[in-house]
Amino acid sequence: MLKTKDQIKLMKESGRIVARTLRLVSQAIEPGVTPKHLNDLAEKLILEEGGVPNFLNYGTPPYPAATCISVNEAIIHGVPDERPLQEGDIISLDFGVVKDGWHADSAWTFAVGEISAEKKRLMNVTREALFQAIAKAKAGSTTGDIGHAVQKYVESNGYSVIRDFVGHGIGQRLHDDPRDIPMYGKSNTGHKLKVGHTICIEPMVAVGTHKVKILDDKWTVVTADGKPSAHFEHTIAITENGPEILTKED
Ligand code: MF3
Ligand code: CO
Repeated sequence: MLKTKDQIKLMKESGRIVARTLRLVSQAIEPGVTPKHLNDLAEKLILEEGGVPNFLNYGTPPYPAATCISVNEAIIHGVPDERPLQEGDIISLDFGVVKDGWHADSAWTFAVGEISAEKKRLMNVTREALFQAIAKAKAGSTTGDIGHAVQKYVESNGYSVIRDFVGHGIGQRLHDDPRDIPMYGKSNTGHKLKVGHTICIEPMVAVGTHKVKILDDKWTVVTADGKPSAHFEHTIAITENGPEILTKED
């Protein structure tokens, strides 16, 4: 499904709200604060801008919160809880907004106080993998080119890419065509990208194994070995001038 310039403009407004919410909520991260508090703050900020959190009640069983907040070995889909953050944790905030029927989705991993050199490196490698992949998101490229860019960069840095969860198209639905955008794979495979495609690129990277476990809440995805993981995600439009990040403020 290809979007017009006007439709992309509407997605940019949802993306602006996601980016603003990430910025403001990240400023509240400190030891002692709970993920639940950050979730409630995010929900308030999204509603205040005329958006609606699009994660609440998503999927089966219905996702139970407005945001996903994943700490340390939690990779994605962390259900915000009341456990206070501790100095040295890393925390991924994953926020999504729908406004006027159009969706946007972005995630960022942050440090709680001083963190280990390994966690710092993990965050840097994951963020850089996202931007290497975004550079490939242009008309004529394939979804495989994006996955390959992430995998190559991550593995050359000694880390592993999560495979059980993938990026996705986005638009009038949170998950739209092209359905699956793996963060690993081969160049020149998968779907061909065209001007008007809007996609979420979201490397999930682990220090240890790429294998995952799902907690009893049926949502929180953690690394099977308990080692830390980071997650960075942007909503991108493929334009005539190359990739455009929609989940930003200006
Ligand atoms: N940002 C996630 C994604 O890219 C979150 C969706 S799962 C939900 O798909 F249940 F929390 F909505
Ligand atoms: Co996503």
